[in-house]
Amino acid sequence: MKTLVLIGSNRKQGATATEALAQARELDPTGQDTIVHFVHEMKVACCCGCEFCRKEPACSQKDDMAGLIQEMLDSEAVIIASPVYFGALSGQLKTVCDRMYPVYRGGGKSLLAGKKLYLVYTQHSPCDTYADVRKTAEDYLFRFLGFQLVQTTVVGKDGKRYYAGT
Ligand SMILES: Cc1cc2nc3c(=O)[nH]c(=O)nc-3n(C[C@H](O)[C@H](O)[C@H](O)COP(=O)(O)O)c2cc1C
Repeated sequence: MKTLVLIGSNRKQGATATEALAQARELDPTGQDTIVHFVHEMKVACCCGCEFCRKEPACSQKDDMAGLIQEMLDSEAVIIASPVYFGALSGQLKTVCDRMYPVYRGGGKSLLAGKKLYLVYTQHSPCDTYADVRKTAEDYLFRFLGFQLVQTTVVGKDGKRYYAGT
């Protein structure tokens, strides 16, 4: 399966990368159709809020984000993996998510409609912590952008896993 992996931790051997890459191997065992990005290595500026993308499905800022959105459109599944920082997605990943506004075309329409999404969170706290925060991100960010959430995986510090189907 053509899989795009976005990792929101700078730590290449960390818990987030480990879980995200393991899931990618399940979706695409040969890895030939998998693209992996550690988002901190990409040139992605913060959303400037100009709302250019409300007029046309593009961004006024020219950096790596247009290419990343195209990779998402071309993929069959997207894995978005983040360490929990202060109860939320890491800043690196939130910046990328904010810049995905061009895919939302208003009236509930999205260029990514139905795209399979696998969410991964890693954290020190037990897996059942932050369920409310995850729900908010699902409702107001990921589903809003049109993703079809297939699975949320939470990995706690003790290595225990919690899988939440949808
Ligand atoms: C700035 C910062 C904030 C963090 N905030 C939380 C938090 O609110 N709750 C939590 O359970 N763990 C928190 N952690 C721990 C990380 O979520 C946890 O260590 C994560 O698995 C790290 O992933 P990595 O190994 O991929 O970097 C925080 C870590 C950092 C560096």
